Amino acid sequence: MSIFLNGEFMPIEEAKVPVLDRGFIFGDGVYEVIPVYSRRAFRLAEHLQRLQHSLDGIQLKNPHSDDEWTTILNELIRRNTPEDQYLYLHVTRGAAKRDHAFPVPAPTPTVFVMSNPLTTPSAELLKSGISCITVVDNRWLRCDIKAIALLPNVLLRQAAVAAGCAEAILIRNDEFMTEGAASNIFVVKNGTLLAPPKDNLMLPGITYDVILEIAAANNIPCEVRKVLKEEVFNADELLLTSSTKEVMVITTLDGKPVGDGKPGAMFAKLHTLYQTFKQEVMRK
Ligand code: PDD
Repeated sequence: MSIFLNGEFMPIEEAKVPVLDRGFIFGDGVYEVIPVYSRRAFRLAEHLQRLQHSLDGIQLKNPHSDDEWTTILNELIRRNTPEDQYLYLHVTRGAAKRDHAFPVPAPTPTVFVMSNPLTTPSAELLKSGISCITVVDNRWLRCDIKAIALLPNVLLRQAAVAAGCAEAILIRNDEFMTEGAASNIFVVKNGTLLAPPKDNLMLPGITYDVILEIAAANNIPCEVRKVLKEEVFNADELLLTSSTKEVMVITTLDGKPVGDGKPGAMFAKLHTLYQTFKQEVMRK
């Protein structure tokens, strides 16, 4: 596997970063995950825009222009074999003597990008749906930053896995649903799609935006507003989105069936529309 590290392409085995890198010491950095279909990065402009938002959020200067990022990412895609890949892009504040405050002068940021094969959910999984648990959203108040400091998300996802589930659905203040540990969540009730608003308590998902655009273009009723935990428990359908999972259906929540426990009509419709959209935008 060929990766990109600080200006150079190399085999992953040769990639090294200093132990004093602030990403390693403090989790002081941000990242992006970008799907690649037929060797073309999906929604690249939007991912680069979100990267800029995350960098602004941690007061770190973007080490590359959008044109430079595009060149780097396209070259990395070219150097790796799969037609469909996902890119993991990571920028940290760089290496410096350990001190919490930003180092002066600012060190050179560390830039790392790797490519992995993209495996979207199998036909079996799309038919059965996945199981989730609900957990307390105990993260910080800047979940809109795609920070590499993911320990809360790691622990919440692990709680799901320990319960035999695929994802944890996060409930904030015992009141409303924010997102999943590494995904966005939609509720379906009486034919309407309910989506939490993009604020500081959730990651503004790129796939989330695609789903809302597709819904609008196909006259699917949609409400973007706070989604109460009771609405999650009483949902007709629950959907999950992310760059690597696309749109998935949740059929079991906290051990109980969601709706009738089978993938519903809204999921079928949105999944088909998403595949068509992908086909038209990416595969032509
Ligand atoms: N995670 N919310 C969180 C907390 C996430 O980590 C992710 C994605 C999403 C979905 O965003 P998008 O549609 O832009 O992928 C929402 C990626 C896939 C990851 O960390 O691997």
